[in-house]
Amino acid sequence: MDLFMVAFRILHIGSAIMWAGGAALFFFYIEPTITAMGPDGEKIIGELVGKRRMPIYFAAVSTFTVLGGLILYWRDSGGFQVSWITTSTGLALTTGALAALVAWIGSNLLIPRAIETVGAIGGEMKAAGGPPSDEQMGRMHAAQERLRTIGMADLVLIGIAAVAMASARYLG
Ligand code: HEM
Repeated sequence: MDLFMVAFRILHIGSAIMWAGGAALFFFYIEPTITAMGPDGEKIIGELVGKRRMPIYFAAVSTFTVLGGLILYWRDSGGFQVSWITTSTGLALTTGALAALVAWIGSNLLIPRAIETVGAIGGEMKAAGGPPSDEQMGRMHAAQERLRTIGMADLVLIGIAAVAMASARYLG
């Protein structure tokens, strides 16, 4: 029995499930709820980010996925041997890994920043009192659109990684 591979596969696949599930829930439910709340979305963001520290969840599960994956990749490729990387299985896993690395940047840098921007504009609107100005509404819509686009791109990249990884060993 190869206990090393069993342990790292559980770490890798378990974290990947939590990352992909979290990203889907965010894109399909949390982001639309924040957007529908307009300036009040700031309250939800304060609770999710400020109090419940949602970015730490994504940082942990995405980093465990990538680190666990890197160790599996290193073992499978015999220490990054080009002869393995260029097989169909190696190429599929490499494609999935690259998609996942870009998704890591989205989940940990771009999405948290975009959420903060939406929250900050909502806070500004509420602090000013009265109906928001056209300029504020324009900035809010642009920030919400950016959050939605990055969330969708992140989910697509995670989906590419999952499909590539799940099929890799049967391609060769
Ligand atoms: C969202 C990101 C990811 C998802 C959803 C994901 C998913 C999976 C799944 C489901 C498997 C099992 C495939 C099988 O049993 O045949 C797997 C295996 C694997 N993954 Fe990932 N993965 C992700 C990211 C990564 C990254 C970033 C790397 C490398 C840097 C990586 C490297 C590997 C390797 C080498 C295997 C094969 C392990 C073995 O030989 O048993 N993965 N991945």
